[in-house]
Amino acid sequence: MGILLLTPWSGAAAGRTSRTSEEALAALGAALFVDTSLSVDGAVACATCHRPDAAFTDGRAVSRGAFGRRGTRNAPSLMGLAQTREFFWDGRRTSLEELVMDPLTTAEEHGLSGEGAVLSLVQARHAVGFALVFPDEGVTRTTVAKALAAYLRQLVPAPSPFDRFQAGDAQALLPEQRRGFALFTGRAGCARCHRLEAGSFTDGAYHPGEVPLEIVPRQPDAARGILGWDSEARRAAIPARADVAALGRYAVSLRAVDLGRFRTPSLRNVAKTAPYMHDGSVPTLAEAVERELYYRKSEGLQVGDLTPADRSSLVAFLQALTSPQVPTQTVP
Ligand code: HEC
Ligand code: HEC
Repeated sequence: MGILLLTPWSGAAAGRTSRTSEEALAALGAALFVDTSLSVDGAVACATCHRPDAAFTDGRAVSRGAFGRRGTRNAPSLMGLAQTREFFWDGRRTSLEELVMDPLTTAEEHGLSGEGAVLSLVQARHAVGFALVFPDEGVTRTTVAKALAAYLRQLVPAPSPFDRFQAGDAQALLPEQRRGFALFTGRAGCARCHRLEAGSFTDGAYHPGEVPLEIVPRQPDAARGILGWDSEARRAAIPARADVAALGRYAVSLRAVDLGRFRTPSLRNVAKTAPYMHDGSVPTLAEAVERELYYRKSEGLQVGDLTPADRSSLVAFLQALTSPQVPTQTVP
């Protein structure tokens, strides 16, 4: 059986290596991305939680990994990460190469016991592919990370109706969507954080998120509890403990000002990535917009009072950020 690979929309990322080897590297990463045998129960692949047909999310509030174990966070889309500098809802990783071993060795995700276990499974299943792309090195932590990172970098969203509008096609947005765009950048204040620069719809910064009521009383203990831990121990606790995950950026920086703050998510393809927020607590896009209007206002930011028609226009605008599904091709 062939392996489904998402065709790069704008070609492979430019780099020191030639285009051909970059593509071969991404194809190798694609093969790892969909391989369920790289998990402790043989049932979980990256693509289980990052489904290409759902803009690389899984439709669940929080993810479920090996043996159905529940994580603590909502799986984000993986498109357009080539320009991202800090990853995860709390920014605890700063490069894709560094990040990709995390899901493989997290109990609530692929559940493998460590790097050694990952490498021997990759060796058993993908030795030929690695020998072709890395004739000298073969399967190592570095080459596995390079392959997965190369695959992730070429997941570029194809132009959405909004991109066509920005490029000069006035008809690409419906009148209601154009109204929503004006509100988004104007009175509703959304673009202050979901910034339009570089088409990313994020400022890459951390802002308050809502923490469920049942967790609030546990926050002070959790915040104090992790103070003595090293960064590796804190990283491991995030997918395992909802109270630690709810500390947000604080669990990374240990600065009080970061308590309960989360990285502004990009809104590209947001109509396809329900449910919403770091913990998946908001089921629909309309509710997410309502929550943002209410919540950002209650922080003392001036969002103005919006009518029900205004709110629907905002939702309609967000729907214009959906990219057409990129055709898949079979790699032999
Ligand atoms: C069990 C579900 C699950 C599996 C399997 C999984 N992920 Fe994830 N992924 C998540 C969740 C949940 C997050 C958010 C975690 C957080 O922010 O704390 C995430 C976040 C990420 C991010 C960060 C995206 C961003 O915007 O910051 C990347 C990149 C990523 N995953 C890649 C992968 C790769 C590559 C694999 C396979 C090696 C993989 N994931 C396997 C659930 C999963
Ligand atoms: C102060 C910065 C800020 C402003 C202003 C802001 N947002 Fe957000 N937005 C965020 C952050 C941070 C999150 C993640 C919160 C969380 O996970 O708890 C978020 C989450 C969202 C989500 C969910 C996305 C997902 O993938 O889960 C949507 C939709 C959204 N915002 C839309 C809007 C709209 C529409 C506006 C304007 C009314 C707006 N936001 C204003 C920072 C902001």
